[in-house]
Formats: sequence, structure tokens, C-alpha cells
Amino acid sequence: MLRDSQEPLTDNSDSISAKSAYSQYMTPTRVAEFMASLFSKLTPRKNIRFLDAGAGKGALTSAFLRSYTQALLTINNPTFDLFEIDNTLAKKLELNVKNVVPVLSDNIQIINSDFLELAPNLINEGIGHYSHIMLNPPYKKLYGESRYTKILQSNEINAANLYTAFMSLSIKLLDKKGELVAIIPRSFCNGFYHKKFRDFIFDNCSIEHIHLFRSRTRVFKQDKVLQENIIVLLKKDSKQKEVNISISTDDHFKDFRQESVPFSEVVHPDDVNKFIRIPIASSTTGRLAVGLSLADLGVDVSTGPIVDFRALDFLNQMPESGDVPLIYPGHLNGTTEWPKRDFRKPNAIRFCKKTEKLLFPTGFYVAIRRMSSKEEQRRIVAHLIDPKNFPGFKYLGFENHLNIIHSNKNGLSESLAYGLVGYLNSSYVNSLFHCFNGHTQVNATDLRSIKYPSLDILSYLGDWIKNEKIKCQTRIDEKIRSNIPIHE
Ligand SMILES: C[S@@+](CC[C@H](N)C(=O)[O-])C[C@H]1O[C@@H](n2cnc3c(N)ncnc32)[C@H](O)[C@@H]1O
Repeated sequence: MLRDSQEPLTDNSDSISAKSAYSQYMTPTRVAEFMASLFSKLTPRKNIRFLDAGAGKGALTSAFLRSYTQALLTINNPTFDLFEIDNTLAKKLELNVKNVVPVLSDNIQIINSDFLELAPNLINEGIGHYSHIMLNPPYKKLYGESRYTKILQSNEINAANLYTAFMSLSIKLLDKKGELVAIIPRSFCNGFYHKKFRDFIFDNCSIEHIHLFRSRTRVFKQDKVLQENIIVLLKKDSKQKEVNISISTDDHFKDFRQESVPFSEVVHPDDVNKFIRIPIASSTTGRLAVGLSLADLGVDVSTGPIVDFRALDFLNQMPESGDVPLIYPGHLNGTTEWPKRDFRKPNAIRFCKKTEKLLFPTGFYVAIRRMSSKEEQRRIVAHLIDPKNFPGFKYLGFENHLNIIHSNKNGLSESLAYGLVGYLNSSYVNSLFHCFNGHTQVNATDLRSIKYPSLDILSYLGDWIKNEKIKCQTRIDEKIRSNIPIHE
């Protein structure tokens, strides 16, 4: 009854142009099977209407058919709608999925069309409601003027990326209590651009399960996809209860761990941005006994205001008279090295009427790289800006790849600056940060959403670090653990 498919479902050796145009990254079999296993048990009385949008070669549908063969054979007329835009793939898809459970082959419909164009009709005509949806959608940024954005906006969908568009349309197509399992980039869990999408999820679904793949490289290894991926199980119009959170390094699931956590740990009730956190992503996720915002500390964070290609007329390789330092992440590699000879970037910017408003008076600041390197363990790399490294300069320029913590566009006290650097670089903050940020970027909103200890504790920590001869992060971590009350 059950036959192997004709062609590897997860082989990614298709034409390079179609692959990049349509984001053809096929789901590995073990991942597809894990995804299928997340659905609630199928009962014979259930009406099964299954959707796989962007079905590729059918890895997800095949896993569903294989996982539930016995149950499906007792269900009256289950239907399977598979959308695939690419003609060549659609043919392979048909061959693959119709062979998994041959007696169900007539129940499977391959729709060789654009899902984003057809789905709104299905929604508006009130047809095409699905009980089970599986997705590994294409991902690509959507721009304001694109044809898709217009289609989506006329259906009241705000999507910054193709994958959130596929998800939103699919959620609209889900039956009440219907379930959707998707493997998607983690990027929608935080960040400003996806806030409306997160709201859309919370308004329509409960989050039942989140699985995090720790490795950014290993799940889609043939494809060099450098994103952290998560699998989510959503249930339409269902009351939000505890959330199952699981984690594994990769699709071998060898170190699989799962626990059930209150929803308030996934989305903090007081978080206006409604970031989706993955609490077991870290080992130290306890909360600070006193957790203050940057604003409570009287400071703020800004992106470095100098975008070099917009300021070309004012830049100099080495400082000349009338110039001030222009600081790039490359000047801050553990120590401050400025100016740098043979640096690929300019070291200086001219001080004049046009640049003055972009500059900061020389003082103590905390500079945080906006991009950490891909496999760097630590996401937040904070660095002390110390005025003694820039003698004779009244102003400093910060390049756009840095975030700067300042006090109303002025410097911080020395103790606070030292304390913030130690705290932000600590393993506590970095593992906490990993709960809600899965990519390599650290933006100002992320830094604002972290909770900080009191000014007194930060200054105490800062004074201690300043006087330590060898500034070793392990010792700083110990000092933080013994001085900052954290509820585990
Ligand atoms: C990331 S791949 C995943 C394929 C398959 N679901 C899997 O899990 O192996 C996305 C698939 O969506 C298809 N696709 C891209 N844009 C589409 C669209 N607008 N409508 C339908 N399919 C689309 C691509 O050709 C590709 O096969």
C-alpha cells in the first residue's frame, strides 16, 4: 500500500535561477516528519482538508500522508490541495505525492499556480477552508510597490516578507480549530517590521508549540541558509494555554528537549512590542529582581548617525586639521585602535555646520556592534568609548554599523559606561537575548527591550570593572551573578 516516492523529496539540485527566484529550499525528511507529528491526533470523524502552499517536491505532504496513513484511510473523502508555482517542480510533485498512498491519489489536487494570487479569491468566496496546513514557504523581502504587496494590502494583510504573506493568507484559510504547522525564519519573533504580523497571529490563533533549531547552518545544510529556523504549530480561534517549547541543534534531534511554559514567558504581558521569546533557548533566563529600562536609567540608544556613503564629501582617510574621529566597528576589536593605518574605511570626518548635528561631544559612551559575526556565540558585543583614546578632540562621529548608548546625546558617567559594557557583554544578557533574537543583528529596539539592573548596581559593577587589572569576562559574569539579584 505504502510506496517510496519516485524522486528524493528533499534534493535541492534544481535549476539555480528557479531556486533563487522561488526560494526552493526543500524540507529535510526528518524535519517534515517532526512537523507532521505535531498535529493533534486525527480522529476518524474528522473532516480533513489539507493545504500545502508552495509544496515543492512534496516533502511536507508526503510526511503527513505517511504519518497518518491508517487514520486517513478511515476518514470520509479527505482532500489535499497542493500549490506550486514552478511548472517543472509541479510535475515532480505530482509524481511524488500521488505515490505515497496510491488509493488516495485522486484526492490530491496539484494547483500549478501562484498561491498569493489565488488565495485571496478563496478567502473572499468563502471556499477553501482547511483543517490542516503545512508550510515551508518561500522567503524574500516584499517591497511597498510590489504586485504582491498590493494584493495583500487589498486583503488587509501587512507582510514584510513572502513567508509572512504565506502565513497570513493560510491563517485566513484555516477552519475554526484548524491547525497550521510551518517552518519559518525566526526573524518575525522580534523586530519592529513584523509587529503587525505578530498581532495578526495573536488575534487569530493560539501558539501551541515552538521548536527552535539552534544551528543556523545545519537544517538546510545543502543550501547554506544562514537563518535560525523555527517550527510553529498554531491553532485557529483557540484559547491560548501553555506553550510547548522544544529545541534541538539540528534535524537529527539528538539533543531534543521539550518543556511546557506559561504563555506569559513567551510573550511578556508588559512588552508593548510583543516579542515572541523562546525561553529554553538559554540556560539562564531568570528575571532580574529589579528590571529597569534604558529610559528608567536616564539614557537612550541610537544608531550611529553617520552613513559613510552619504557623507563622502566630509570623510578623510587620516585626520587632518578640523577633523574629528569617525568610529567604525573595526576600530573596536577588544581594544580601541584609532586612527588605524591601512584601514579600509576613513578614520575621520570634518567638523562643520553640516556634520555638527551628527556628532557627539567627546565623553564616555557604550558602542554596540549592530551585526555580530554569523557563528559568534555572543550576540551583543559592547565596547567602552573612553575619551582618553581620543585626546584633543571635542567631538566624535559614530558610523551607522554601531548602536550608541548616550545620555541625551551626551556622554555617560564613567562608572555607568563601564557597568553597562560589563552587563551587556555578560553571558546572562547574551543568553537572555537569545530568547528573543535569532539573527545576527542587534538593533536599538532590541537593546531598549532588555531589562537592566539599577543605576547603583551598574555603577558599582562599573567601578569594580574599571579597577580590575585583567578584565576577564568570566570574572565579570561571576561578579554579576553574585551582585545582581536574579530570580531563576
Ligand atoms: C522553501 S520551498 C519549500 C518546498 C516544500 N514545501 C518543502 O517543504 O520541501 C518553497 C516552495 O514554494 C514555491 N513557491 C514560491 N513562490 C510561490 C508562489 N507564489 N505560489 C506557489 N508556490 C510558490 C517554490 O517554487 C518552492 O517550491
